[in-house]
Amino acid sequence: METSKLFLLSSSLLLLLLATRPCPSFSERCNPKDKKVLLQIKKALDNPYILASWNPNTDCCEWYCVECDLTTHRINSLTIFSGKLSGQIPDAVGDLPFLETLIFRKLSNLTGQIPPAIAKLKHLKMVRLSWTNLSGPVPAFFSELKNLTYLDLSFNNLSGPIPGSLSLLPNLGALHLDRNHLTGPIPDSFGKFAGSTPGLYLSHNQLSGKIPYSFRGFDPTVMDLSRNKLEGDLSIFFNAKKSTQVVDFSRNLFQFDLSRVEFPKSLTSLDLSHNKIAGSLPEMMTSLDLQFLNVSYNRLCGKIPVGGKLQSFDYDSYFHNRCLCGAPLQSCK
Ligand SMILES: *[C@@H]1O[C@H](CO)[C@@H](O)[C@H](O)[C@H]1NC(C)=O
Ligand SMILES: *[C@@H]1O[C@H](CO)[C@@H](O)[C@H](O)[C@H]1NC(C)=O
Ligand SMILES: *[C@@H]1O[C@H](CO)[C@@H](O)[C@H](O)[C@H]1NC(C)=O
Ligand SMILES: *[C@@H]1O[C@H](CO)[C@@H](O)[C@H](O)[C@H]1NC(C)=O
Ligand SMILES: *[C@@H]1O[C@H](CO)[C@@H](O)[C@H](O)[C@H]1NC(C)=O
Repeated sequence: METSKLFLLSSSLLLLLLATRPCPSFSERCNPKDKKVLLQIKKALDNPYILASWNPNTDCCEWYCVECDLTTHRINSLTIFSGKLSGQIPDAVGDLPFLETLIFRKLSNLTGQIPPAIAKLKHLKMVRLSWTNLSGPVPAFFSELKNLTYLDLSFNNLSGPIPGSLSLLPNLGALHLDRNHLTGPIPDSFGKFAGSTPGLYLSHNQLSGKIPYSFRGFDPTVMDLSRNKLEGDLSIFFNAKKSTQVVDFSRNLFQFDLSRVEFPKSLTSLDLSHNKIAGSLPEMMTSLDLQFLNVSYNRLCGKIPVGGKLQSFDYDSYFHNRCLCGAPLQSCK
């Protein structure tokens, strides 16, 4: 009897203690160091509404925009997407040492440079800082984050050259630097990445010079170099043994003879429009399983080869050339 009474007393005492105990609550999984850093980030961003759930009295593993690792309970993901938020990426982001995913996206008032503090985050796999107003250079420190599989810095105000050291990333699946104000050439080193060959997205910049000679051996599945100021001979990139599927080289200053180019058999989409490409369409194009083709606005001549997919495209895939003729354009004289 006595013992059960005692038990009752002690358990109600415990309950009382629990109820009046200030936070963090009994069930909190969140690591206190991570919580402290997240609250610093919130403060540095001037307490935006999108982070309203970041309440110090609750478990930070339950907060919006973050995720905790299931076993270590360390913050491994920070994703801030499309909210009303102004200011710069806080340096404190670099103090979440177990981050694997870092995303700031569609935040038009996010300005300033990409902070060097991000270089501390060695576990990062996915970085997306895109559709923001970040400016300054593409930092070379990304090349030290060896586990990166995806780097997207597109739709920003980044300027300056592309750091060649990014080719040292051994696990990169895709590199998006498109829609910035990047200048200078495509680095030579991009002809050979340390491990996997990433999809390369460099469109809508002000890149200039020739494509590097090392691109002879570069075999990405997808490459978009459109809307730059690239020039010279693109034919070195193409060869029948590659496995490239989608390429967009449109709106540049490429100048070469297309007549003897051998395209990869795997090619499904080819955009060469708005360049200074001369010669004729090679006969081998009839053996390609193309779903998209645009060679308009060049200096091509001669008869469009008959067969394959070539007559399945409309007039506007071929128009505005010097003297290209035959279906779907007007017949050759
Ligand atoms: C961006 O800042 C401007 C000026 O302070 C403000 O009017 C606008 O609402 C902000 N937009 C967003 C999406 O935060
Ligand atoms: C960058 O800011 C300008 C205004 O300063 C705005 O017009 C533009 O949409 C913003 N860019 C992005 C990608 O949000
Ligand atoms: C990188 O990834 C590998 C394989 O997933 C993992 O074993 C390693 O611990 C990771 N390194 C870092 C620094 O996260
Ligand atoms: C970003 O670039 C756009 C277009 O060039 C410009 O209108 C805008 O003011 C720039 N924003 C910042 C924050 O530099
Ligand atoms: C090809 O490019 C030209 C020039 O940009 C454009 O006018 C035309 O609509 C494009 N055709 C196709 C099929 O994309």
